[in-house]
Amino acid sequence: MLLELDNISLAYGRIQALHGINLTVGEGEIVALIGANGAGKSTTMRAISGLRPVSQGTIKFDGQDITKMRADLRVVRGVSQSPEGRGIFPGMTVRENLEMGAYTRRVRAEIDEDMERVFGLFPRLKEREKQSGGTLSGGEQQMLAVGRALMSRPKLLLLDEPSMGLAPMLIQQIFDIVVEINQQGTTILLVEQNAQQALSRAHRAYVLETGRIVKEGTGAELLHDPAVKDAYLGVA
Ligand SMILES: Nc1ncnc2c1ncn2[C@@H]1O[C@H](COP(=O)(O)OP(=O)(O)O)[C@@H](O)[C@H]1O
Ligand SMILES: [Mg+2]
Repeated sequence: MLLELDNISLAYGRIQALHGINLTVGEGEIVALIGANGAGKSTTMRAISGLRPVSQGTIKFDGQDITKMRADLRVVRGVSQSPEGRGIFPGMTVRENLEMGAYTRRVRAEIDEDMERVFGLFPRLKEREKQSGGTLSGGEQQMLAVGRALMSRPKLLLLDEPSMGLAPMLIQQIFDIVVEINQQGTTILLVEQNAQQALSRAHRAYVLETGRIVKEGTGAELLHDPAVKDAYLGVA
């Protein structure tokens, strides 16, 4: 397994957000994590990227225990997160934002190569290369956040609600790109409220409810699970 969460708990002060989560992501997979607002999806991502310390359990990545590793060192090891709500740098150009994603890297030729790869995935960003991030549309900022996360050349890409706030046509497009990134060799953990899209694109998936994993299976299994349909897919 590329990523293994073993019995992870995490609290914000007195608020216990995760209660003993077990989750794995194998090399080459797209794994989806679905759940309602407040279930603990983003918290799970923060635990993995190291933005919040866990109170219990272990996180293994690529054969190493990273439970207590600093967030920036996890990026160097190959974990990269595209945060919820975009979090791009509005005053920097598109190219500068992408450069920021490569801050842990030194080999110029490889960075340029990855920049071209990102522009290949998102031609819109290429067209707006010199424009400041803050002037992009919501969808374009979302693309920029994903592109920036790719610039660290991650083994594992953590995507927190990449479809949030996008128009229906762009939602299809962003999920197509997620699959394309995966086919180019990057393992993906995808957090989504758009369960329909996430489950139909993922190899495997987990359902999170108030900080606990309540169900897991292949994307197709969960897509056809009556309880999942009822709770998350808006069909009885
Ligand atoms: N910075 C924080 N401080 C206190 N509580 C938080 C913080 N972030 C999230 N929470 C709480 O943790 C729980 C899980 O939140 P979150 O992981 O953001 O859920 P999701 O991403 O699934 O919507 C919620 O009850 C939320 O209110
Ligand atoms: Mg969230």
